Amino acid sequence: MRILIGVTGCIAAYKACEVIRGFQKAGHEVSVVLTESAKEFVGEATFRALADGRVCSSLFADEDPIPHIALAREADAFLIAPCTANVAAKIAHGIADDLLTSTALACTCPFIVAPAMNVHMYDSAATQENLRTLEERGAFLIRPEEGYLACGDNGRGRFPDPEAVVQMTLEHMAEDLPLVGKRILITSGPTLEPVDEVRFISNRSSGKMGACLVQAALDAGAEVEIVSGPVPLSYDGRAKIRFVETAQEMMEAAKEAFPESDIAICAAAVSDMRPARAHEGKLKKGRDDDALGAIELVQNPDILSGLCQMKRAGQVVVGFAAETEDVVEQAREKLARKGADMILANLVGQGRGFGRDESEAWIVTEEGVTELGCRSKKEIAKAILELLSLNRAVEGDRA
Ligand code: PMT
Repeated sequence: MRILIGVTGCIAAYKACEVIRGFQKAGHEVSVVLTESAKEFVGEATFRALADGRVCSSLFADEDPIPHIALAREADAFLIAPCTANVAAKIAHGIADDLLTSTALACTCPFIVAPAMNVHMYDSAATQENLRTLEERGAFLIRPEEGYLACGDNGRGRFPDPEAVVQMTLEHMAEDLPLVGKRILITSGPTLEPVDEVRFISNRSSGKMGACLVQAALDAGAEVEIVSGPVPLSYDGRAKIRFVETAQEMMEAAKEAFPESDIAICAAAVSDMRPARAHEGKLKKGRDDDALGAIELVQNPDILSGLCQMKRAGQVVVGFAAETEDVVEQAREKLARKGADMILANLVGQGRGFGRDESEAWIVTEEGVTELGCRSKKEIAKAILELLSLNRAVEGDRA
């Protein structure tokens, strides 16, 4: 998930650095928006060094002419930590006079506020009313702790332990995630079918599409198991990952995981054929020319069809179709022939689809076709998961 952290002018601003680290350790991407006062406590350079997303503080300095809208659109959650009495008051009253408060007004994602200030400022009727207003409008408040404060007073107002702030934020967000309690099996990458001990038949799948699906499924709150062919990329560590080589191994692993899954998404580029036998050692040019020149091929099992045949009520199976022409027509045919609930059809060949960060795609179901156009694989994955979240078969059966 992409988490936007707002930092305001408070002695606890340095603790936002640990909050950033905490989210990153949990696998999330962090962008930062600072008020001018926050920069008096911790410099923008520190946040730039830590954050993996954008770090901004001005409505006008960025190349983007409307940065508050872009930040608000990109964020899956907006956490203001620490939040001063002043910023809480401004947001409660709809004042948008800098980048942070304008972004807060433009945000439609979950909004979390962690106030930190002097005990008397916190206890004041004005602050309490402002925080209540924010809460009533849907903000999740992470209350400050009691203790010794920077100003020498003792009482409520201390910014909590950064780890606890991360934990509470993630727990709060998980409550609303659409696929909490669901298990998703994803196949990804190519398969490798050995000719001998050094050669194989394979394809150009990089696993990028599968990795984006893993991320989107985790972000939707699902538990994810991925069965992947050999790829040089790393999948999100929160998923259970099983690497395999051949189509037969992928079939076995997928069949084993499927009964415990609510949804299966078959994004792997499985070799349709494999050599009838994998020769021992290396076939040698000159000596084994006959064997090398006429590799006998046999059909591999069709994993997608196999899972569709095993499907019980409530389970949903999504297939992919990689086509060089008549994409939608062929996807419709695959949907019917293989028995899938949904097919993500994508255009491949001439450098498209395989190995790229984007793809031209369509979602095909019995109900109709949704043209996604040319989009990043991240967006395609998100679109698939959003549709699955709305699917009545999945929804009706929610744990
Ligand atoms: O990995 P990337 O580089 O990011 O590329 C992504 C991708 C192009 C590989 C991906 O978007 C994609 O299209 N994956 C499916 C590729 C494919 O094998 O398509 P197909 O039309 O041949 O197969 C149709 C469906 O049947 C697929 O869901 C496939 O996983 C499944 N299949 C095919 C053959 C087989 N023996 N078993 C299967 O399960």
